[in-house]
Amino acid sequence: MLYYLSIKGKQKLKGSVCISGAKNSALPLLAATLLSKNKITLSNIPNVVDVKTLLKLLENLGAKTELNGSVVSVDTTPVKSACANYDIVRKMRASILTLGPLLARFGHCEVSMPGGCAIGQRPIDLHLKALEQMGATIELKQGYVVAKAPDGLKGTTIIFDKVTVTGSENILMAAALAHGVTKLVNVAKEPEVVQLCEVLRDAGVKIEGIGTSKITIVGSYGELLDIKDTKVIPDRIEAGTYLCAGAITNSKITITDVIHSHLESIILKLEQMGFGFETGENSVTLLPASKIEASDIETSEYPGFPTDMQAQFMALCTQASGTSIIDERLFENRFMHVSELARMGANIKLKGHSATVEGDMELRAADVMATDLRASSALILAALVAEGTTKVHRIYHLDRGYENLEGKFSALGADIQRLEE
Ligand code: UD1
Repeated sequence: MLYYLSIKGKQKLKGSVCISGAKNSALPLLAATLLSKNKITLSNIPNVVDVKTLLKLLENLGAKTELNGSVVSVDTTPVKSACANYDIVRKMRASILTLGPLLARFGHCEVSMPGGCAIGQRPIDLHLKALEQMGATIELKQGYVVAKAPDGLKGTTIIFDKVTVTGSENILMAAALAHGVTKLVNVAKEPEVVQLCEVLRDAGVKIEGIGTSKITIVGSYGELLDIKDTKVIPDRIEAGTYLCAGAITNSKITITDVIHSHLESIILKLEQMGFGFETGENSVTLLPASKIEASDIETSEYPGFPTDMQAQFMALCTQASGTSIIDERLFENRFMHVSELARMGANIKLKGHSATVEGDMELRAADVMATDLRASSALILAALVAEGTTKVHRIYHLDRGYENLEGKFSALGADIQRLEE
């Protein structure tokens, strides 16, 4: 069944919204269950399609999984197959996270080349190069990565040419079971990478440099780990998206169940744009701006401004006073929301990796199409301030990463409905 979202604009928001667990932390933690010698329970799991896809992949490999609300238990002890097949992997790029753990555990594996968000080429060369440096032989056969390391992966020094989030996670998991010491340089510092490191540390893996770009990890010589039950950290991108919803409608809203420090670059940018904040222990309240100021944005790795918030801020900049320039530094083709925003009356000029966004725009409702996960949320934000009723189609992109989106927006007072196409 295909659905679209119907959103009537020009409503103020108010109240509070509870932020779910982070999809981008849940996925590597689920992949890490392949390293475990016992059944693991993960809590604060977001109910989103990407998580279900990975659970399906684990089951397909032979694992037993049980999802109850936001709690999932995973037992990978029955896993015998090391082949992650195309039908599941093509649905989600992050399936590649099973490559490191499967290879480290079985000494061989076949993982289909990933699909997922259409935001540029998104290669996996850095994952493969690092595994080769650890002694694996890798061939690409009929769309599959066929990896072998019959005598186990060997610890070594790996310098990542670029900061890669899932690449870092993949190699951290591989290194946890490797023979000897692995030194990783230019590692991603995202909170989701940090949580994975902490889970490995709590499982008894010796790991130094957590949260920095240089990590040393002592492998277990192939012995499976005693991974402990874990609560997934809050989703900083979902949190940022709701803060932007409050901002674009210039409303007072509160997000709860968040970690304030993970939101620093997003809050700082909103402050520069004129919004105020009150922070509680696990909550953040956005206060309306007297005037929304234009602001230039450049995406970068954590702790910089996240590329996963670029589309949402672009929608917000259409309502600012003046011109904003948005530089996308991580992905070369992450501007597909621009043409859809233009259909709603936005004036955005693209040149290379830079977008010039004119502010003070009167947006109008239109039929628009979601093109990737975060682009979809930018269209919802634009719809909140547009004149009339916007229809956002292809929302399966949105369901990959946002839990109960229309329920949460409705609770904030938005007029939003999920309807059949
Ligand atoms: C992760 C996040 C995604 C976020 C992105 C950047 C997950 C599941 N997804 O994606 O939401 O947008 O980080 O913060 O956590 N690159 C290469 N070769 C590689 C790997 C990456 O050239 O082998 C390049 C990419 O094309 C991109 C940059 O490195 O330009 C960063 O990508 P990366 O951090 O790997 O993104 P993902 O881990 O896929």
